[in-house]
Amino acid sequence: MMLRDVPEWTLAEQIRARPTEPVALARPLEVSQLPTPALVVDRAAFESNLGRMAQHAASFGKGLRPHAKTHKCPIVARRQLEMGAVGICVAKVSEAVALASAGIAPLLITSPVTAPGKVAVLERLADEFQGIGVVVDSEEGMGLLERMGPANRLAVLVDLDVAMGRTGTRDDDLARRLVERIQAVDHLDFMGFQHYAGHVMHIQGHAARSEASLVLWERVLERLGRIGVSYDVLTGCGTGTFDIDCAVQQITDMQVGSYVFMDEEYRQIGGRHSERFADFEVSLTVACTALSQPAAGAVTVDGGYKSIASDTVPPAVDELPNTQYRFAGDEHGVLVSRAALQSVRLGDVVRVVSPHCDPTVNLHDVFWVLEADGVIRTCWPITARGCTW
Ligand SMILES: Cc1ncc(COP(=O)(O)O)c(C=O)c1O
Repeated sequence: MMLRDVPEWTLAEQIRARPTEPVALARPLEVSQLPTPALVVDRAAFESNLGRMAQHAASFGKGLRPHAKTHKCPIVARRQLEMGAVGICVAKVSEAVALASAGIAPLLITSPVTAPGKVAVLERLADEFQGIGVVVDSEEGMGLLERMGPANRLAVLVDLDVAMGRTGTRDDDLARRLVERIQAVDHLDFMGFQHYAGHVMHIQGHAARSEASLVLWERVLERLGRIGVSYDVLTGCGTGTFDIDCAVQQITDMQVGSYVFMDEEYRQIGGRHSERFADFEVSLTVACTALSQPAAGAVTVDGGYKSIASDTVPPAVDELPNTQYRFAGDEHGVLVSRAALQSVRLGDVVRVVSPHCDPTVNLHDVFWVLEADGVIRTCWPITARGCTW
């Protein structure tokens, strides 16, 4: 099959044509002038989060391999690399296409690839770019990687599962066989192991989260002892365990994602010393315009499920005390409170904190970058928006 006949390649060519650089606005804007609903990144909070995580990782001797599934933006990935990241994670092959084409490297695809069309695109990426990596957790996936023949070597990690039940193998013999097969192929480089425990990230309370995460890492280390191969990289960890997993000496790098923006779901899990998880600032908000007031005590804004994603809690309205946001369908939300009634007029713009930053970002084309002087001069394209394959 020719690459041009692979449907994934048709999509990849479109992704490669997308903008990747900051866009300077014709004239500076205030938040109140944005075409809402609009994603706003507060640059000072964003930079502070990047610096705090970089400093934290360095102080524990860990590398940072931040996950770009959160921001999907080469400009953010470039900034993370400038601040010392050892590489960037992406969730899927299509995100790798978007970031590799913008010059981001090294890249690690953290989901296994088992479809021939996606492997064909992966092979093409590894032909063109150095520093592409992927995880594997099955004989089937391994067979596809073996049959590739890219110009540059592909880094491969074995994905281990302990308790999450999403990706990764629980079978030590299979893990060892996969390592042996990787080591036997010229175009593949065995890099190490991945273990990501997503189900632990939002456990309420630092002590409970800490216990759950460290028990799992202990089991990973026991398994690595049984598998019995040497490795360079042991990667995993998310924002919810950033100050927990750093105590595990064998972990080489942390795949944290959400810390760049933060969201309401993360704020609610609690921090080491506080009821709210406040180690990182909220740098991402969704600006919405008040557009109707059908009932007393409520104001309808123009952001709903199509611009704010949630799996659990509603958006938070930090700007207006004692105000709740309620989803009111695809296009709308309703702010409910006395404050909303008294202070919000139709046409006003209110910023809300997204419940879950990653899928919220995936609903937008650009970040509007709010500078410390309160003005927006650039927007950053979310190049990998919609890249979910
Ligand atoms: C494999 C993997 N690594 C890292 C992360 C980053 O996690 P967080 O956004 O909680 O920091 C995720 C998020 O889902 C993930 O799936």
